[in-house]
Amino acid sequence: MPSFIAFLIAGALWATPGGPPPELPPEMITRVVPEPIAESVIAPTCMVASAHPLASRAGAAIMQSGGNAVDAALAVQAMLSLVEPESSGPGGGCFILYHDLASDSLYALDGREELPRSADVDMFRDAEGNLLPEVLSGGLSVGVPGTVAAWSRIHARFGKLPLSQVLAPAIAAAEAGFPVPADMARGIRSQRSRLERFAPSRALYFHENGDPYDEGELFRNPDLARTLRLWAADPTGGFFYRGPLAEALLEQVRDNPFRAGSMVGADLEDYRAVFRQPISGHYRGRTIGAFPPPTSGGITLLEILGLMETRPRIKGALTDDAVLLMHLDRLARASRIAFADRGAWLGDPDFSPEIPMRDLLKPEFIKARAAAAFDPNADLTPAATEGPLTGSHTTHFSVVDAEGNMLSCTSTIEYIFGCGMVVPGYGFPLNNELTDFNLFPSDPPIANDAVPGLRERSNSLEADPGRGGKRPRSSMCPIIVYDTQGKPEIAVGSPGGSRIIGTVTSVLLCLLDFEMGLQEALNFPRLHCRNRPLEIETFGWNREALAEALETLGWEIAPLGRFPLLQGDVNAVRILPDGRREGAADPRHDGGAFGG
Ligand code: GLY
Repeated sequence: MPSFIAFLIAGALWATPGGPPPELPPEMITRVVPEPIAESVIAPTCMVASAHPLASRAGAAIMQSGGNAVDAALAVQAMLSLVEPESSGPGGGCFILYHDLASDSLYALDGREELPRSADVDMFRDAEGNLLPEVLSGGLSVGVPGTVAAWSRIHARFGKLPLSQVLAPAIAAAEAGFPVPADMARGIRSQRSRLERFAPSRALYFHENGDPYDEGELFRNPDLARTLRLWAADPTGGFFYRGPLAEALLEQVRDNPFRAGSMVGADLEDYRAVFRQPISGHYRGRTIGAFPPPTSGGITLLEILGLMETRPRIKGALTDDAVLLMHLDRLARASRIAFADRGAWLGDPDFSPEIPMRDLLKPEFIKARAAAAFDPNADLTPAATEGPLTGSHTTHFSVVDAEGNMLSCTSTIEYIFGCGMVVPGYGFPLNNELTDFNLFPSDPPIANDAVPGLRERSNSLEADPGRGGKRPRSSMCPIIVYDTQGKPEIAVGSPGGSRIIGTVTSVLLCLLDFEMGLQEALNFPRLHCRNRPLEIETFGWNREALAEALETLGWEIAPLGRFPLLQGDVNAVRILPDGRREGAADPRHDGGAFGG
């Protein structure tokens, strides 16, 4: 029987809730390419998983010296600023989700970058209203950084060890040097023209003869060591927001040779990391702790899970083609609707009080949206709800300590090497997070919109004149999953711009619906529906057969090449039933887990 006919039959069966899985030719979506895969790490008391083994090792060593999960995570962040500078660091922002066992509470600390007070709503457009070329580079796109403020604040509240001890591994590595990792070398090469434009970036990432640092070469960053020393001497983080570093940062943003920004000293001085009320949802009997706006990640993920849970649990394994297709069709349907709601509603709640936050997760809303998501006659044509720019460089790390405190942090400078400009003398690149705002209003109105005709105002560059501080909508999605006793069990998250949401959702579904092991869930190939054509990862399954089957069901498939072949970089830790700690790093990148 030709495959498309089989799928037409399958489509009819799936319209019946709980209907039996369809009979399909077994060879259809044979898992043809088994890479990339990796194995998890298990240790007796503590665990870190991050985008680089040096960072995970630094975090584990801090815990073995008596530090807790917050101390360890800050050591990881500092080391990643050095070995993965293309993704996060002092020049960027972060969301920290932390479960503290002493108070048995979940904390969500928002260190997102902010719009400067003099930023103009039209700053990314020319006189005709067209988007300026190369807005990713230069000072215009730099948001007021929040990473130093956030880590200073959470460390002051929960850390055990002195900051000087926590930052020591990164300071030592910055001075002694380390072999350039593959991801960093790829980043320098791919962003060569942007980095070369700015003298401080040229001086840091290129040899004197102009050659970029290559994979495996020894790389030192004494300027970053200096920044970290300043931090160790001023644990409040104030050194970053006023004084010589702040002046150098402002000069780079305002006086650079390309796309000067408007940030002023008061923007830096007024920056505060904010504790927000975390959000949570339930899936298959588990509580999922997540981050609220200004990231869209938590609400959108919980909406997708809520929609999925209105359907009966699929029985079987994802190695069975029929099960896999039913699962992916449902996931895509739920994601399509949740992304339409995301586009319509989510942004900075401090500037858009009408954001319905928790209403999007109420059972009656989920029920109404489930009817739209799983309508067998639904027109699955996607409608773009986002601006043209979505970030692709960000990092996630997860930590669990000996007591069981758990931390899940996603940290970013937005694009690869952010805006491309290093702060001279301080050794770190600045973000270009302001490109996470919608640079244009959405016109025509959003299809599948919960409120027809609503424009994407909540994430626009509009703010009250002279009032700085609006935070661009993010997709970052740090998650903590609780066990059935209500104790933190799994910390997980990923980079990937708005694909973060689908990546983390997929991992959770592999764990909670299909009971995969932690590493197996990370290895599993990914599919994204961002209310756009479906994006299918290229390994691990027969992409062409899968695309054909999904097209038969009414889905449009994005051509290869419109998205990165390797999607996401998930780093996760888990407390096993016997109390040991498991860590898993995404095999798609340089990451590693390390425990003690
Ligand atoms: N910079 C990626 C995000 O915030 O979603």
